[in-house]
Amino acid sequence: MLCDKMVDALNGQINKEMYSAYLYMSMSAYTEFIGLKGFANWFYIQYQEEMEHAMRIYNYILEQGSQVKLMAIKEPPTEFGSPLEMFEQTLEHEKYVTQSINDLVELAIEQKDHATQIFLQWFVTEQVEEEANDNEIIDKLKLTGKEGGGLFMINRELAARVFKSSLKKE
Ligand code: FEO
Repeated sequence: MLCDKMVDALNGQINKEMYSAYLYMSMSAYTEFIGLKGFANWFYIQYQEEMEHAMRIYNYILEQGSQVKLMAIKEPPTEFGSPLEMFEQTLEHEKYVTQSINDLVELAIEQKDHATQIFLQWFVTEQVEEEANDNEIIDKLKLTGKEGGGLFMINRELAARVFKSSLKKE
């Protein structure tokens, strides 16, 4: 049983995850358009992961017998700067999502909602991983990305990323 405040907050998080998906889908389209197919692959997988994050919350709300309320998804940008700037934007966005997850955890603690606290632990861990991944790519881009060869190498590396669903029973 979820309290109304928690249902509203979780529905708000679905919207943020859907926006994240939309943002990375737009980044994927952009990088594909400018010929960086490896980057496009990385952002496309990011888009798929964000859709799963949204569905994870969607399933949890329903499982708890509450109502899912979908809201309008904000339009993402369609033009981006350099690959380094794109990953800096990605990291900033993920920090914003991390803050939002932390706020949800705070609310769950305040409401003595133990089930939601446990549910949110997966997201807490996931956010650490997401920020670490972004930081790693930013470091690589800073080291080598300015030269054509370095960017080509990173592009090839990002092309190897494979989507693994996290929704299957762990
Ligand atoms: Fe679902 Fe990238 O946070």
